[in-house]
Amino acid sequence: MNILILGGGGREHSIAWAVKQNPKCDRLIVAPGNAGIAGIAECAALDIENGDQVAEFAAQNAVDFVIIGPEAPLAAGVADRLRAAGILCFGPSQAAARLEASKSFTKEICAASGAPTAAWARFTDAEAAKEYIRAKGAPIVVKADGLAAGKGVIVAMREEAALAAVEEMFSGAFGAAGAEVVIEEFMEGEEASFFVLCDGENVLPIGTAQDHKRVGEGDTGPNTGGMGAYSPAPVMSAEVEARAMEEIIRPTIAEMARRGTPYQGVLYAGLMIREGRPRLVEYNVRFGDPECQVLMMRLGAQAFDLMQAAAEGRLEGRRVNWAEDHALTVVMAAKGYPGAYQKGSEIRGLDQLPEDSHHMVFHAGTAEREGRLEANGGRVLNVTARGGSLREARDRAYGMVDRIDWPEGFFRRDIGWRAL
Ligand code: AMP
Ligand code: GLY
Repeated sequence: MNILILGGGGREHSIAWAVKQNPKCDRLIVAPGNAGIAGIAECAALDIENGDQVAEFAAQNAVDFVIIGPEAPLAAGVADRLRAAGILCFGPSQAAARLEASKSFTKEICAASGAPTAAWARFTDAEAAKEYIRAKGAPIVVKADGLAAGKGVIVAMREEAALAAVEEMFSGAFGAAGAEVVIEEFMEGEEASFFVLCDGENVLPIGTAQDHKRVGEGDTGPNTGGMGAYSPAPVMSAEVEARAMEEIIRPTIAEMARRGTPYQGVLYAGLMIREGRPRLVEYNVRFGDPECQVLMMRLGAQAFDLMQAAAEGRLEGRRVNWAEDHALTVVMAAKGYPGAYQKGSEIRGLDQLPEDSHHMVFHAGTAEREGRLEANGGRVLNVTARGGSLREARDRAYGMVDRIDWPEGFFRRDIGWRAL
């Protein structure tokens, strides 16, 4: 099969790595890709949020299957456009992608399907929102309704911070995403990410993970896109996973189908678990980044068969073949991230590292210039390893990190600390 993957980060590198190992893969194209992806696939310059352009490219290149990595093309309806052109595609329709693109939509689905989540209210007016905050008190959580590149959530431990967040959102700090604001109850507990594949009707769990959102060791400093992750998440015991499936995931999928907008693709549930009881924090309609990297490391080539089965409506009765393994990824980022950082510094030493089913450096933001590998983003490398235990996976990953020569980069030394 000729396969096109949309995206150009560590998530897409890991998907390409897994797909490439599957004997069904003939030609592999990634748009736009990055310097690491270029080592295993063709890279194409495409505007991946433009459905017409993607569909035309897919037709010209006899692409049989498109896998959509990030949320923006999904929210823009690229999957709909491809399916209308008769091209098989992994990823939800624009209507189903509202599970990520609108927080109030997700809350409505929770209300309609009985899925447990934080108590909430929605506002289009700052005064009413502030009144609600004063009535409820802190801690409280303020969220821009729309997509805000992971920055639209303020967990306010003090009332003043919540009031300031409301001011900021209604003053346009998050553009259209903040025209509507959701305010919700602060939930206590331990967070975990739960990934399931859906074919519109059937649901297949494909793993759990925990990430590290704060930039600094000990979970300090500002939030980032994620500084590392590991899989599985110990808090997601078989019992918690079963409850999440029965109380949250299946009711959501059934409600989406009932509304005539069935969900197809990967559904990523952010859960808060307390005393064995999971509640929904949020949905994402794509793989997490860097959670995807640890999932792909554990799933390998079967990830492709499962994504294809989801896209073709054939998930019923499918199973995942699990090794009793663990995977861990360490994000190496450019100094300054998540604030301002420089691009263009040289990265050395990657060619000395092992690349096999237990060791991979996925590229998140790199470019090649005149034979040099350069940093080309905030999050730059995802150093990923697999092992029989989490400790073994961690030791392997840091063993690689320590051999990478990149003085302009930094990383957290404590990925996995909670589980270890
Ligand atoms: P989100 O973008 O919705 O995942 O929110 C980002 C982060 O904010 C989550 O991963 C949680 O750590 C935190 N968060 C969001 N909503 C809540 C809530 N209701 N209670 C506690 N923490 C929350
Ligand atoms: N690592 C969090 C996310 O992908 O949303």
